[in-house]
Amino acid sequence: MKTEKISRKEELIKKIGEQKVILFFALLIIGSFLVLTSCGEQEEEVKEEFLVIKGTKIGEFNPEKAEKGAKIFAEKCAACHKYEEKFVGPPLGNVFKRRSPDYIMSQILDPEKMTHNNDTTKALLKQYMTQMPNQHLSHEEALMILEHLRAKAEGK
Ligand code: HEC
Repeated sequence: MKTEKISRKEELIKKIGEQKVILFFALLIIGSFLVLTSCGEQEEEVKEEFLVIKGTKIGEFNPEKAEKGAKIFAEKCAACHKYEEKFVGPPLGNVFKRRSPDYIMSQILDPEKMTHNNDTTKALLKQYMTQMPNQHLSHEEALMILEHLRAKAEGK
């Protein structure tokens, strides 16, 4: 009789122990689910920066291309941009380090769309009080200017 009572007690303790383990895992699963879903929400909140051009690839440095870009820059950009100082627009000697290739390409090829949609350029328009005009360059010409600005920023 006595031993039966003890074994029942033991069984009860065992059962409670099992329930604790199950509860622990259940909380673990619920907890990790909550953490994962809250991360997902945070990602959604980060707005993707507006750009006109995407997927610009930077290959090996091409000095010929950069030289052609320097000529186009002198003709179409130097009226408003210097390399080291603010002018009508921001200094561009270091812009390759400051901004992404897609951003620079977008600004060259469609500055109006950029000042309307891209927060960075929007702020620059407020600061410089001038809308950069579209210079109607080809994609190829814009890439040459990009290579020139790369040479300037990297001291090539
Ligand atoms: C009439 C003057 C003018 C001309 C010409 C001009 N820009 Fe601009 N540029 C600006 C102004 C003003 C801004 C800043 C406000 C804005 O975006 O309108 C700017 C902004 C930029 C920016 C963004 C800089 C930054 O810090 O984010 C880049 C890059 C740029 N210009 C490149 C060029 C290139 C390359 C050319 C030549 C193809 C050119 N610009 C021609 C006036 C000009």
